[in-house]
Amino acid sequence: MFASRTNWNLTENRLTQALAEYRRGGRPFLDLTLSNPTEAGFLYDSSAILSALQNTESLRYEPDSQGLLSARKAVAGYYFEKGIQLSPADLFLTASTSEAYSWLFRLFCNPGDEVLIPTPGYPLFDFLADINDVRLVRYPLLYDHGWQIDFSSFEKAITPRTRAAIVVHPNNPTGHYAKPQEQAQLSAICAKHSLALISDEVFLDFSLHDAPANSFASQTSSLTFSLSGVSKLCGLPQMKSAWIALSGPNELKNDVRQRLEIIADSYLSMNAPVQLSLPAFLATRTQFQSQLLSRVRANLSFLDREIAKQNACSRLAFDAGWNVVLRVPATRSDEDLALSLLERQGVLVHPGHFYDFSQDGCLVLSLIVPEKEFAEGVHRLLSFLSS
Ligand SMILES: Cc1ncc(COP(=O)(O)O)c(C=O)c1O
Repeated sequence: MFASRTNWNLTENRLTQALAEYRRGGRPFLDLTLSNPTEAGFLYDSSAILSALQNTESLRYEPDSQGLLSARKAVAGYYFEKGIQLSPADLFLTASTSEAYSWLFRLFCNPGDEVLIPTPGYPLFDFLADINDVRLVRYPLLYDHGWQIDFSSFEKAITPRTRAAIVVHPNNPTGHYAKPQEQAQLSAICAKHSLALISDEVFLDFSLHDAPANSFASQTSSLTFSLSGVSKLCGLPQMKSAWIALSGPNELKNDVRQRLEIIADSYLSMNAPVQLSLPAFLATRTQFQSQLLSRVRANLSFLDREIAKQNACSRLAFDAGWNVVLRVPATRSDEDLALSLLERQGVLVHPGHFYDFSQDGCLVLSLIVPEKEFAEGVHRLLSFLSS
């Protein structure tokens, strides 16, 4: 009855089962995997957000396949503040970055075509690839006092069926940006092999350094799609509002616009109230981002102080984002460790394999957890590892 692309393994993993058990029993636990910003105690400009949604223009239906011009102009303004001039004609609004990926997979890939993705990375792509009949091929990121792309493996992974390469900038959970020289190299390789370069920039603004990182939207040598949205930039995942920014050689961009417009027009997936509110949502991002970054910095400095007191665990360096990777003794599987932490300490963390780490010895923690809970969770985690 069902398409074979939906033949997923539907059994829950042991950690999910244990967590469900915990919840059923009403047992409290410290969730160090919290990634929903609306549940993390941040202060939102609720009157700006809610009054934007009451725009009477919402009562009219004026579909535009790329998204309402007023909304696209606001997104162009976001890039303008970064020193990048984008025409609203090069912006396509989508309901989420996930939807943006799907549209791009449909634009470039026939069934069985390949897309390169970084590993370790966020576990978003496998289902999206299955749904769109795309084969994912992983290229490794290497860690040596910081993360970098293994370009020799990247080039070796390209086959005649490769259609696109994804870079997550900064990557989740490793939190590293593609450095300017890596950006240029990625663009050059993609141009040479006629690949679309897709840059996922949902965490672009969450840099722990003073100098902001450059968006791939400034790249012009290869056909480039920079994806972002209000889900992370403004901490508003419930508003389902994201975009694709197109850059690259003009003649290719023209072809893309015509085809992508038909895909977009077939769905017209963004609703009018949210599109009309996008300028107001984007205007709230400074206030949200400064709260989030001060939370991340406070949690990170607590973590570093506690890590300095013991030697069972260290943390990996990163530039940006909401997560941190801990290196722990690989004396058992990361899943076993995460299970023990939940069952014996009431602390939930993500095992590294959830993010496709190839070896045991990594745990991933969210840094947006409210500070008191984070401190208690880290305290229990480190005492457990040292015992
Ligand atoms: C790297 C990355 N890209 C995209 C997303 C999803 O974004 P959206 O809510 O716009 O689909 C996430 C969600 O955590 C993410 O980590």
